[in-house]
Amino acid sequence: MGSEVLRYLNPRPGATIVDGTVGTGGHSLLILPHVLPTGRLVAIDRDQTALQLARKRLTEFIPQVTFVRENYRNLSAVLKDLRIPRVDGVLLDLGMSSLQVDCAERGFSFSKEGPLDMRMDSGQEATAEALINELRADELAMIFETFGEERFAKRIASRIVSERRVHPMTTTIQLARLVVEAVPPRMRHGRLHPATRIFQALRMAVNDEVGALEGVLGLVSELLNPGGRAVIITFHSLEDRLVKHAFAQGMRDGAWTVLTKKPVRPSEEEVAQNPRARSAKLRAIEQRSGLGALGTCPEP
Ligand SMILES: C[S@@+](CC[C@H](N)C(=O)[O-])C[C@H]1O[C@@H](n2cnc3c(N)ncnc32)[C@H](O)[C@@H]1O
Repeated sequence: MGSEVLRYLNPRPGATIVDGTVGTGGHSLLILPHVLPTGRLVAIDRDQTALQLARKRLTEFIPQVTFVRENYRNLSAVLKDLRIPRVDGVLLDLGMSSLQVDCAERGFSFSKEGPLDMRMDSGQEATAEALINELRADELAMIFETFGEERFAKRIASRIVSERRVHPMTTTIQLARLVVEAVPPRMRHGRLHPATRIFQALRMAVNDEVGALEGVLGLVSELLNPGGRAVIITFHSLEDRLVKHAFAQGMRDGAWTVLTKKPVRPSEEEVAQNPRARSAKLRAIEQRSGLGALGTCPEP
């Protein structure tokens, strides 16, 4: 959603922008020419490989870019370290990148044989394998229901728990096969592979994706300059609801103006080129000028 990001983020010469999910740098590459010659971009990702690729892709802009391997939920601390009090734009493009899903060894894909890993940050301890083999059936079912909206969550969780007593779960294909066996036969050959929602839910749990989003949503108003903008692209209804409600609350509090009454969707052309974009929803706000933006009382 490159053109939509530019339209709503509105990067200007001299602006300081945070790309909190730089990935391989696609959006940053579009943003940077607009902030030249004096602006800068803070490029954050928790994935070391993504950051390395972004660094290569953004080589021509290197003096303007600061790369930081961090969780965007720690954005306040990142900006404090860089001595940047406030910024003019924050972009978050949530979810996983093609780089992650296409790499079998990362374990994000149910169609590629790999370890049950799914960590975006390889320095983190908890893996999908640990959750699948160690959580109780009710805990697994809760993850599948909450993050995957999976109808057969309990059934799949109980099947996992019986299987792992005999064969510990270690690979993506092993889990995908078991999910197929656990759902009713009529569900096995639908449009959506039965393991789709289970893998999505596990990934979201392993990386505490909802926790990170909730954390950053609480920071946005204190980090944006007046007139600064935040643009968030989600791929999951739960995340979109969180963004929608936080944005509406900030508007009621007088912190910002919501720029997108309805979520902005990718064009048909983009979905045709990149089917993964089909569930993307973009929402944006603009920080109000003046005291209202801070929600605090003036100094006496
Ligand atoms: C959809 S991709 C972003 C793609 C990017 N906009 C581009 O144009 O290349 C999402 C990226 O966000 C990163 N990510 C997800 N959650 C994160 C978090 N809490 N903190 C930092 N990075 C995160 C992932 O590692 C992944 O690289």
